[in-house]
Amino acid sequence: MAILKVLTFPDPRLRKVAVPVTKFDKSLETIASNMLETMYAEDGIGLAATQVNIHERIIVMDLSEERNDPKVFINPEFKILNDKSLLSFTEGCLSVPGITEEITRPDNIYLTWQDLKGVSHEAEPSGLLTICIQHEIDHLEGKLMVDYLSPLKRDRIRKKASK
Ligand code: NI
Repeated sequence: MAILKVLTFPDPRLRKVAVPVTKFDKSLETIASNMLETMYAEDGIGLAATQVNIHERIIVMDLSEERNDPKVFINPEFKILNDKSLLSFTEGCLSVPGITEEITRPDNIYLTWQDLKGVSHEAEPSGLLTICIQHEIDHLEGKLMVDYLSPLKRDRIRKKASK
């Protein structure tokens, strides 16, 4: 296992759109375990492959307080079931260090993904998982939490980051 370098805003590589995973092999398992190790080392609750400069649709997550419930989502996709049901949550991001901002997202979604063996799964998640998976899928689309903020605020964060 290895700890990978996490890219930080405004690195342009964070803007790449990730491609779907098609091979469910040993190398995918290695990427996922390295991503988990990196996420734990950085004390994050989720990490998208884009953040470690791997542009494939892979997300790892651990929302447990004990940090002993690793989850891997391959090719995750979601549909909004009710766009009037919203949840505001103070989000942080390993790629935007030192910044937390309240972001509002739909909290009634239908989620599909594959596991490391390529087996398909589906769920209607609730609470933190709903928010976190949308944040991480944004990364796979080249989108960052700063994109939800006003241009002025985003600019301030960019200036702070380049110091
Ligand atoms: Ni993030």
